[in-house]
Amino acid sequence: MEKNAYKLAAKLIKGAKNIIVFTGAGISAESGIPTFRGKDGLWNKYNPQELATYEAFIKNPKLVWEWYDFRRQLIKKASPNKAHIILAKWEEFLPITIITQNVDELHQRAGSKNIIELHGNIWTLKCINENCGYKEKNYEAPLKELPPICPKCHDLLRPGVVWFGEPLPQEALSKAFSLAKKADLCIVIGTSGVVYPAAHIPFVVKENNGKVIEINLEPTPISQIADISFFEKASLALEKINEYI
Ligand code: APR
Repeated sequence: MEKNAYKLAAKLIKGAKNIIVFTGAGISAESGIPTFRGKDGLWNKYNPQELATYEAFIKNPKLVWEWYDFRRQLIKKASPNKAHIILAKWEEFLPITIITQNVDELHQRAGSKNIIELHGNIWTLKCINENCGYKEKNYEAPLKELPPICPKCHDLLRPGVVWFGEPLPQEALSKAFSLAKKADLCIVIGTSGVVYPAAHIPFVVKENNGKVIEINLEPTPISQIADISFFEKASLALEKINEYI
């Protein structure tokens, strides 16, 4: 990408009043956490219908927990990469809110504070019994027992993530979309842009005359509305933009 694209991106970022950074699994790839789609994507090896739906969980809670326990162990060993760290730095002096589809908590670990988690958090365990409502943050990896049992009602505990076919957390969703309507800039990083309603976020910014900067290894449906697209690693693009911030 030629130099002035990074300069232009930096100019848009410095001039923006309300910035949304919309992130997906690609921003954590350089921390060693596999993405879902694209060449080495998890969904090429595993069937999401068997591992990431409520029905799959009820059918075989132990199998689903083995999958999440495996991912929790991977994430526990991972550290935030340069991309997460630059975003946390920018938040100190730029009006940034991160709206993430990721459940790995690497943005928090990099020091970002203004974060909306649209798809939940892999470190949250919650009781499947809605009337019980028990919920806890649990960073044990591996977990001692699979599936973990609710200490309150002794029903099953599930990962506090959003599965396919489930509604997104209402508060996070409405907050994300009201911010998107007000944002004058959306920086999209590391998402294939195919999972809704999350993938709608950059389009809402565009519809409200905001600008869109995309950073992704390959073109996505969001590329068609991007004012600037950087088809390279998130850490490299952000490092080069950061030189002009
Ligand atoms: N830098 C930038 N982009 C990258 C990098 C990288 N180092 N590595 C991979 N990518 C890009 C890939 O090209 C791909 O387009 O990141 C994107 C990741 O896309 P997905 O794997 O589909 O992840 P995501 O868009 O976050 O998936 C959305 O789907 O499975 C559900 O709930 C899950 O939140 C997830 C949702």
